[in-house]
Amino acid sequence: MSDHPTAPVSKRMQALKLYSPSAARNRQAICDVLEPRLPQDARVLEIGSGTGEHAATLLEARPDIFWQPTDPDPEYRSSQTAWAQDFNGRMAQPLELDLCDPGWDNDLEGFDALVCINVIHISPITVLNALAARAASIVKPDGLVFLYGPYKEGEKTAPSNLDFDRSLKSRNPQWGVRDLDLVIRTLGEGGFAALTRTDMPANNLSLIFQPGVPSNASS
Ligand SMILES: C[S@@+](CC[C@H](N)C(=O)[O-])C[C@H]1O[C@@H](n2cnc3c(N)ncnc32)[C@H](O)[C@@H]1O
Repeated sequence: MSDHPTAPVSKRMQALKLYSPSAARNRQAICDVLEPRLPQDARVLEIGSGTGEHAATLLEARPDIFWQPTDPDPEYRSSQTAWAQDFNGRMAQPLELDLCDPGWDNDLEGFDALVCINVIHISPITVLNALAARAASIVKPDGLVFLYGPYKEGEKTAPSNLDFDRSLKSRNPQWGVRDLDLVIRTLGEGGFAALTRTDMPANNLSLIFQPGVPSNASS
């Protein structure tokens, strides 16, 4: 008996899936923090989705949610398209989204969560500024912003994050591990206050922001 006629296409799509070593390490830990915060039937917009593995992990954990992946990089978008095949329309086709472009958020609204994992240190500071400036119009009034990555915290900064900062800057002077206070202040200027901070493996943090919530992030 021959294969189903769509099988070769599907196999070709599966081959486009990319796997990132860092996502393999952090995807479950991120899911454990983010998943309980997502309301029933949540609609999630992710900035810089990379391989699409975080979207896939959250969608596996939560069959009720919808995920919109995005990335400026076409190879990553192809990987996201391949992962999306596993989720019957719950993972949308990826959007080409570069936060350095004016108008990047056109037509993006009504999301329950804006998720950004390991992006703001590996892009110019304008990416953080653009995200903070437009988040309030993208998420619902009770929506949230989820940021994950390494941060600088003055003298408390982990040596590995200082090394990472130096290595990022040597690759691109506009990149760098961001100062946690600056990130919280920038989101604050966009109308968001830090709700929780969760220490994550390998000296990373998960930060959750919500509109109108008093600051003093707690674990
Ligand atoms: C280190 S990767 C992280 C990918 C994924 N979020 C993860 O954690 O596995 C950084 C991601 O940010 C994206 N990115 C870089 N500059 C960006 C920009 N200006 N706007 C949106 N995404 C950007 C890259 O294409 C890439 O997917």
